[in-house]
Amino acid sequence: MDKILIKDTKTTQTRLVLPPDTNHLDTIFGGKILAYIDEIAALTAMKHAKSAVVTASIDSVDFLSSAKVGDSLTLEAYVTYTGTSSMEVYVKVIAHDLINHEITLTTESFLTMVALDQDGKPTPVPKVYPESKQEKEFYSTAPERKRLRKERAAKRPKSSPIL
Ligand SMILES: CC(C)(COP(=O)(O)OP(=O)(O)OC[C@H]1O[C@@H](n2cnc3c(N)ncnc32)[C@H](O)[C@@H]1OP(=O)(O)O)[C@@H](O)C(=O)NCCC(=O)NCCS
Repeated sequence: MDKILIKDTKTTQTRLVLPPDTNHLDTIFGGKILAYIDEIAALTAMKHAKSAVVTASIDSVDFLSSAKVGDSLTLEAYVTYTGTSSMEVYVKVIAHDLINHEITLTTESFLTMVALDQDGKPTPVPKVYPESKQEKEFYSTAPERKRLRKERAAKRPKSSPIL
């Protein structure tokens, strides 16, 4: 199977914050940003796996600053680590006040995307290889994040009955 450099998995998207995306304070809904994050993670993972993917989990998301109508949001994503069928994707969201030239980090998160075959079953993905200092740090710490996700999933309480 091919070896793929992490930098070659990078995807970027820029969006304009418009009135339908915002609340009564004219700032963007957190859920809208989550949808953008999920979309770019799926695109990044699909390009890497060359197959359909699903989102298995999204790590905690802290909103550090907001974005208002007229700002642009730039999302940057890349695959940081791969398991057998899973890909950890890092997503960073930057808000840009285009009038005042202010740039702020809105949020960042790790998502786990799983590649599926034509029968909808998890299927192997190519490995990724880190080069930069940041890539190496994310890569080397990914197994511990994966372990914590498994631990959290195992501790999940039984769901309440569906009404
Ligand atoms: C994600 C999903 C495909 C995993 O299926 P599964 O039968 O548990 O498959 P496996 O146990 O073989 O796990 C497959 C991979 O997913 C990973 N995985 C499973 N659940 C996970 C979770 N909650 N968080 C992170 N990774 C997870 C496993 O670690 C494994 O990774 P690996 O192959 O790299 O080792 C399945 O739970 C699913 O389809 N969920 C719904 C996904 C979806 O529809 N998302 C959209 C929003 S609802």
